[in-house]
Amino acid sequence: MFLVGSKIDIDPEPWVAELIKASPIAGVVSNPRLDDNPIVACNQAFCDLTGYGEDEVVGRNCRFLAGPASEPWLTESIREGVREKKPVLVEILNYKKDGTPFRNAVMVAPIFGDDEELTYFIGSQIELTEDSAGPSLNRRVRASLKIRDLSPRQLEVLQLVAGGLRNKQIAWELGLSEKTVKMHRGIAMEKLGVQTSADMIRLAVEAGI
Ligand SMILES: Cc1cc2nc3c(=O)[nH]c(=O)nc-3n(C[C@H](O)[C@H](O)[C@H](O)COP(=O)(O)O)c2cc1C
Repeated sequence: MFLVGSKIDIDPEPWVAELIKASPIAGVVSNPRLDDNPIVACNQAFCDLTGYGEDEVVGRNCRFLAGPASEPWLTESIREGVREKKPVLVEILNYKKDGTPFRNAVMVAPIFGDDEELTYFIGSQIELTEDSAGPSLNRRVRASLKIRDLSPRQLEVLQLVAGGLRNKQIAWELGLSEKTVKMHRGIAMEKLGVQTSADMIRLAVEAGI
């Protein structure tokens, strides 16, 4: 199921839905052009992870996941990424709706519009089952290994996708047609075993590219 908000003035553009829709990983999209950068879309995996319903999520800033023992310096890292429009990945203590704390490996990354203006942020949340760096370290290693399967061109495309660019801008940057970019992007997604752009961006950030 894909959930789109209706409570706020601006509904997300249709392509925004596709960023997280089919992902098995919890995901939200926020709109920094609206007051307080509210969530405009979330996927089912996000509701399953956090226990919140769509109607409790859309229209609110994602800070409701933080709580008394959330590490202020990690929140500051996210804030800094948002401020500087750069991807961040932190493992912060968050809280589910019923108050259960969990270690959240959260990635937040900007998405730029055709005019190169910041348009959205993607947030992608993974619960770490143990309170240690182990699970996410494994994800990082796996991400780095997967990226090795890409051709140099596919890697370039991945880097630009992870930088928040859309196909049109990537085509322009690389001097390729949009169709060719789509092809490289499709093959890269297949090789990386990801279903959505949000997952592709997450993997690139985990691999540190
Ligand atoms: C798309 C997006 C997703 C976010 N996801 C989380 C999250 O999962 N957990 C969290 O603690 N903060 C998350 N944040 C950060 C909070 O929204 C907020 O910026 C942060 O808690 C700082 O709060 P403040 O504005 O009150 O200082 C996310 C931010 C964005 C833009």
